[in-house]
Formats: sequence, structure tokens, C-alpha cells
Amino acid sequence: MPAIIEADHLKKAYRGDVPALAEATFRIEKGEFVTLIGRSGSGKSTLLNILGCLDSPSSGALTLDGEPVNFRDPSLLVSLRRRKIGFVFQQFNLLPYLTAQENIEYPMLFNYREPEVRARAAQELLTCVGLSNRGHHHPSELSGGEQQRVAIARALINNPPIIFADEPTGNLDQKTSEEIFSLMQSIAREKKTTFFIVTHERDFGEYADRSFQLIDGKVTGA
Ligand SMILES: Nc1ncnc2c1ncn2[C@@H]1O[C@H](COP(=O)(O)OP(=O)(O)OP(=O)(O)O)[C@@H](O)[C@H]1O
Ligand SMILES: [Mg+2]
Repeated sequence: MPAIIEADHLKKAYRGDVPALAEATFRIEKGEFVTLIGRSGSGKSTLLNILGCLDSPSSGALTLDGEPVNFRDPSLLVSLRRRKIGFVFQQFNLLPYLTAQENIEYPMLFNYREPEVRARAAQELLTCVGLSNRGHHHPSELSGGEQQRVAIARALINNPPIIFADEPTGNLDQKTSEEIFSLMQSIAREKKTTFFIVTHERDFGEYADRSFQLIDGKVTGA
């Protein structure tokens, strides 16, 4: 079976020759729950943005779900992101004027599905993340942990095989962070979604099938 993520000697230097990612070579299988740990500035977000097709590497190759990624073809990158990838961010990034349910439905708008189909899918996911009765609330009416649950539901709405999360619990307390990790882990098991999660904290290694480290721009433990 092809790997869901195959990184082959990915490297990235930013303009002005800032070396951000020195070496990333690894394979991740479908449904794996992987954490990436590293100090601030070690290149975690740089790697995640490349794997998520939000940024291009300076060299190296990436294959997602059997498809080689052509970083020079913007329309292909958009299509790949839409079909294969969900994102979860540290700051939740929910749209403030939309309700929780509307936020979850939002990425489905681009797939031209009927409103009833969108609403049903969003309600199912609200239940899945434990917020079945909060769909009509706006982000400002939800706690940080609840907002992150909505963001996880939004990332799942188009059924992507891969979720990338960049410090998803960076703004949450320890107990809420554990609840969020446990939720993501149960989703990975139930839906066979692959999770690749960047985190500062080592404590969450126990949730992971595998844990990588990024030291001086090099991925180790892969
Ligand atoms: N757009 C950019 N232009 C130039 N340099 C950048 C850019 N983005 C990041 N860098 C540099 O690349 C290096 C890696 O940054 P990156 O954001 O990937 O680190 P990180 O591990 O995610 O850190 P943090 O834990 O603080 O989020 C840093 O030295 C950073 O200053
Ligand atoms: Mg970062």
C-alpha cells in the first residue's frame, strides 16, 4: 500500500537564505497518529505548511495519498488541499460572524452540496466533537476548547484522509488539551483519518502512534 504521506529529502530556505528546514524524509501510513515535537524556531510550521501544500519546498519531493505534489501548479495544489487535507490551527481561526454550525459547513460550500446535506453533515460532526447543542452559538460564546472542537469538526467536513494541526492546544490549559488530544485520537481510530500534529509539549507523546522530533531543522525518529 502506498504511504499516505511520503516526504523525500524536503528542504526549505526562506528568502535571504534563512535555512528553516534542513532535512525531512519519512513515510506515514493511513490512519497513523503522529506528533512532531521541536523547540520554537526549529522549523515545525515550515514543515507542516509544506506537507499541507500551503508552501513549497526549496528541494525534495512530496507524495500525498499516492499523488506526487507538483508545487508549481497552483490549481492542482488547491484541488489537493480540498480533497486530501484538513487544517487545525493554534488560534482556532473560526469566522466570528458565523455560528459554529456555519463554520463547520463553510469548507463544504466549495463542493456545491445542497444546504440540507451540509447541515446534516455539520450536525453529525457537532455530535462527534461533543457539541450537539451548541451549533447556533457564535465563536465568542464558546470557550477555547469548544472553539477548537468546532475547528476540528470543520477540518473533517469534507472527509479528508489527512489532518494537519499546528499546536492545536497551544492556547488551552492542560486538562482541555488532554481532552482535545483524546478527541483527535478517537477520530483517527474511528474514521481512519491520519493526524500529523505539531506540539511543543512532550506530554502528548502517549497519544501518538509515532513521535518525531525536529532538531536544528532535521526530522529525527522517523
Ligand atoms: N516567511 C519566512 N521568511 C523568513 N524566515 C522565516 C519565515 N517563516 C519562518 N522563518 C524562519 O524559519 C525558521 C523556522 O520557523 P518555523 O516557523 O517553522 O518554526 P517553528 O518550529 O514553527 O516555531 P514555533 O514553535 O515558534 O512556532 C525560524 O528561524 C524562522 O525565523
Ligand atoms: Mg510554528
